[in-house]
Amino acid sequence: MVSGNNGSNSASLIPRHVAIIMDGNGRWAKSRGLQRAEGHAEGARAVREAVETATRVGVKYLTLYAFSVANWARPRLEVEALMRLLVEFARQERADLRQNGIRVNVIGALEDLPTSTRHAVEDLMAYTAEGERMTLTLALSYGGRQDIVEAARSLAVRARAGLVLPEEIDETFFHREMTTHSLPDVDLLIRTGGETRVSDFLLFESAYAELVFLPIMWPDFKPETLTTAIAEYGHKERRFGKTSEQVQMPQSAFDPLDRVG
Ligand code: IPE
Ligand code: IPE
Ligand code: MG
Repeated sequence: MVSGNNGSNSASLIPRHVAIIMDGNGRWAKSRGLQRAEGHAEGARAVREAVETATRVGVKYLTLYAFSVANWARPRLEVEALMRLLVEFARQERADLRQNGIRVNVIGALEDLPTSTRHAVEDLMAYTAEGERMTLTLALSYGGRQDIVEAARSLAVRARAGLVLPEEIDETFFHREMTTHSLPDVDLLIRTGGETRVSDFLLFESAYAELVFLPIMWPDFKPETLTTAIAEYGHKERRFGKTSEQVQMPQSAFDPLDRVG
C-alpha cells in the first residue's frame, strides 16, 4: 500500500502547514465589470472560509500571502484599499479568531505598513496570542528573497561582533533569523489564479512542499477547494530524497545495502 506522507495514521495525512498564494482578485473583479478593490473585498470573504475550513480539518499552521514586497509597486489607490481592508479584517474577525483558538502571526516587514494597518495587525496578534488550535500567519510586505537576505545580514553583523561562529550556522540556525522562525516547513502550497509560479513566497520554507496550482480565482475559493487539495495531498508519497521503499519501511527494518546484488 502506498501510504501518503510519512506515517500511516489518518492524522498524518493532514498537512501540518498549508500556505496559500491568494491570487486572482483583480481578474475576478474585472470579469464582472467591478473595480479591483471590490475583488479584494470579495477575497477577504474567501479568507474567512479558508481559515474556518483549515481549522476544522486540523491544519495547525495556515499561512496566507496577503501582500508582497513587489505589490507596493501597484497603483496607490489599490495599495490603500488593501491596507484599509486589512484594518477591517482585523476589526471584524478578532472576536471569532480568538473564540476559535486561532493565533495570528505576521511574516514580512510589518514596519513598512502604514501606521493604522500596523497597529490593527499588532492589536490582532496581541488579542489572539493565547490561541492554540491553529496559527494563522499573514504575509504582509513579504518577500522570500528579502527574508533570506535580511537573515544573512543579521548573522553577518553578529559574526563580525564575535557573537556567532560561522561554523555554527546550519539550516536550523539560519532559519531562526528569518521572520518565519516560529513556523515549520510548508507541507502543502496552494496557488489560485491559474499562474504556475511562486512569486517570491516562502522560498526557503517550501523546499519540499507539495505544490498545487488551481485555475480558479481567489474569491471563488470554497471550503471544498481546500478539502479536495488536502485529500490529494494525503495520497502523495513524500520521499524527501529517499527511495519509495525506504519511505514505506520502518527505518530499523530496512537497509538499502542489504538488497544490493
Ligand atoms: C491577489 O490578487 C491579491 C494581491 C496580490 C494582493 P491580484 O490582485 O493579484 O489579482 P490578479 O492577479 O490581478 O487577478
Ligand atoms: C502574489 O500575487 C502575491 C500575493 C498573492 C499577495 P501577484 O499577483 O502579486 O503575483 P504575480 O505578479 O502575478 O507574480
Ligand atoms: Mg495577481
